Amino acid sequence: MTYLITGGAGYIGAHVVRAMTQAGERAVVLDDLSTGVASRIPQGVPLVIGSTLDRELLDRTIAEHRITGVVHLAAKKQVGESVEQPLHYYRENVHGLTVLLEAVAAAGVRNFLFSSSAAVYGMPDVDLVTEDTPCLPMSPYGETKLAGEWLVRAAGKAHGISTACLRYFNVAGAAAPELADIGIFNLVPMVFERLDAGDSPRIFGDDYGTADGTCVRDYIHVEDLADAHLVAARQLAAWARAGEPRDLTVNIGRGEGVSVCEMVNLINEITGHTVEPEVTPRRPGDPARVVASADRIAAELGWKARHDVRDMITSAWAGWTTHRQQT
Ligand SMILES: NC(=O)c1ccc[n+]([C@@H]2O[C@H](COP(=O)([O-])OP(=O)(O)OC[C@H]3O[C@@H](n4cnc5c(N)ncnc54)[C@H](O)[C@@H]3O)[C@@H](O)[C@H]2O)c1
Repeated sequence: MTYLITGGAGYIGAHVVRAMTQAGERAVVLDDLSTGVASRIPQGVPLVIGSTLDRELLDRTIAEHRITGVVHLAAKKQVGESVEQPLHYYRENVHGLTVLLEAVAAAGVRNFLFSSSAAVYGMPDVDLVTEDTPCLPMSPYGETKLAGEWLVRAAGKAHGISTACLRYFNVAGAAAPELADIGIFNLVPMVFERLDAGDSPRIFGDDYGTADGTCVRDYIHVEDLADAHLVAARQLAAWARAGEPRDLTVNIGRGEGVSVCEMVNLINEITGHTVEPEVTPRRPGDPARVVASADRIAAELGWKARHDVRDMITSAWAGWTTHRQQT
């Protein structure tokens, strides 16, 4: 199979490229480098610089490289920015996906994996979030992911494409230091940045109805996440070969909640810091607890995460310190 991996120069995309090529699949990356880094792409993997909004470029790339499957990760992903710039987010994440699906359908590509997010659930009021928990996104970003899922499933049904919508929970860690997440948008890099500057890590609210009062999330190692893409891609290919297109929507998490306080303590321990966290008021829109049920992906694909939170922090810190030395 030859996969077009959109957003393959991004944090997660580069891990997917690595997992798929190491497993013997061919990959071609399409990325506009708006947040991606070209050096994350391994030697020998072609990089096409451009946007998913460019239909002519998509048609040419799919034809030239004889693409047989697509993994679509390219998107804008900052919740706060999406509130300020909803039109930009809808254009990039929804219109960009529509154009890509048009190109895929026209070229007769039969497999399509889509990066969705736990943001589609919004503020779920359940212990474990299953794929049947109602989707009530709280931000334009989450809305674009939910609308994206609708588009993917509808196009799959109409055009005989096997599709997977993969709802990632909180992604952390790195398979190699040079692939680490260098954006300061998620908890782990945010704490690293504060510690590096000699500041106290911030905890936004300690009065939630959780065991220690801080928000609880489900963290997934990016290497496990990339492995789940490979397993899902192979399942889609098998369905397509059998002439039985199907759609699959699955959570990708570990089914285990870790509180912000526990994460900050563990980060302190692993990085050798002793800085007391500072508790600040809650951020609007932060749900108390979002933890995946990971049962469906285990049943459908036989996939289960292997890495724990300690692995995530250790590998992320190695990436962070390497990046800091280079800048
Ligand atoms: N990081 C997380 O915790 C998380 C959680 C849930 C879902 N996701 C989803 O996973 C995907 C990858 O996220 P990431 O964390 O690697 O982000 P990232 O910003 O590192 O990667 C996104 C990549 O897409 C590229 N890109 C953006 N818009 C594009 C366009 N229109 N055309 C071509 N390339 C474009 C960027 O240059 C970048 O390389 C996104 O779809 C995101 O919504 C991420």
